[in-house]
Amino acid sequence: MTESLSPADRAKRVAALRACDYVESGMKVGLGTGSTAEWLVKALGDLVRDEGLEITAVATSSRTAELARSVGITVVPLDEAGWLDLTIDGADEFDPEFQLIKGGGGAHLQEKVVASASDRMIVIADQTKDVATLGAFPLPVEVLQFGWQTTKSLVEELLAGMDVVGDKAVLRKDGDMPFVTDEGNFILDMHLGRIGNPRQLAMVINQIPGVVENGLFIDICDTVIVGHPDGTAVVRDINDGTVTESRVTSDDVTNIFADNAE
Ligand code: A5P
Repeated sequence: MTESLSPADRAKRVAALRACDYVESGMKVGLGTGSTAEWLVKALGDLVRDEGLEITAVATSSRTAELARSVGITVVPLDEAGWLDLTIDGADEFDPEFQLIKGGGGAHLQEKVVASASDRMIVIADQTKDVATLGAFPLPVEVLQFGWQTTKSLVEELLAGMDVVGDKAVLRKDGDMPFVTDEGNFILDMHLGRIGNPRQLAMVINQIPGVVENGLFIDICDTVIVGHPDGTAVVRDINDGTVTESRVTSDDVTNIFADNAE
């Protein structure tokens, strides 16, 4: 029941349910990775099963692909799908220009490729992800395993000339071992405190040999949907500057109760 769903999870689920309004039969849809995206995948699975929604999905990680297939969504590789109508994903932070930090779940490489191959990217989030300036969340940078310590030194050196506060890069761990991405790479989490110029940083980090991709998403996100625990969803669109507030319908809320009781 809802008592067991934390306020943060309720907010994430509300954002995910609202995002489903943008998904139409026949669409090719990119599915993000993370706890918020999981709510979306489950909600889309419900629509496929109960409402006859027909979509072709591209997953941004092996775990999203597995979840999507388990709820009855057709998942194909990006190169089979080609260009996508829409990608919906979570974020670790978004700023007023809808620049993002992503990669807290270690999937930002595929997430960036998929979102960049889409007509539109919608971010779904709870309000804790809404920041004035990016950088409190450590910036994930995916690097090759080969020479990763050398790459780490080069990245830290580069930060000296950047408009950031911190300069520490920490190898992400999975227990005692380095975390390994779907592509077999490592992740450095950059503790920067504040990123004064995300556009510049995103470009220069990727110039370092050994860096595969950073978690800054610049000019990729079009729409942000922030869910609130009380069922309110606020949709902000960067293209037309609109802010729309609505509540998920009582049916949706009922489903939140029902699904959670399963
Ligand atoms: C996955 O690599 C990330 O980019 C996630 O989208 C991001 O970390 C948001 O995750 P949550 O929805 O779990 O907060």
